[in-house]
Amino acid sequence: MDHKKELLAGARKARRKAYAPYSNFRVGAAVLGGNGKIYSGCNVENASFGLTCCAERNAVFAMVADGEKRVREVLVVGGSDEFLPPCGACRQVLAEFAEPGARVHMCQEKGECRSTTVGDLLPFLFRLKKGKR
Ligand code: THU
Repeated sequence: MDHKKELLAGARKARRKAYAPYSNFRVGAAVLGGNGKIYSGCNVENASFGLTCCAERNAVFAMVADGEKRVREVLVVGGSDEFLPPCGACRQVLAEFAEPGARVHMCQEKGECRSTTVGDLLPFLFRLKKGKR
């Protein structure tokens, strides 16, 4: 069973808060944590463009700040008929906290989605052993 409906509602709500005055490309994302809670994020842009942070990463960081470290499912929604996929940087961040089999729903504004997995989006990911170096 997936949690697409709740994730879509969370992502849409966050998307309405997107700060995207430069691109006007508003994105909402939501992740389901291992604890069963849904965390949402929107993209936050900056006049120094490289400081922009995507909706997906903001959702994951909200989850971590709440004390949860496992992403069970992900949904991303934009404002067009594009099935919005996470960017490469967000794939790496998702892979830090999700199993390769975790579902990722990439959605059009109207809520139609294409679904895949974190592992399919980022095979051969970069990992480090945790602990002292
Ligand atoms: N963006 C996201 O929020 N998520 C993605 O996966 C792709 C891009 C945002 C960043 C920027 O604010 C705008 O979309 C245009 O790149």
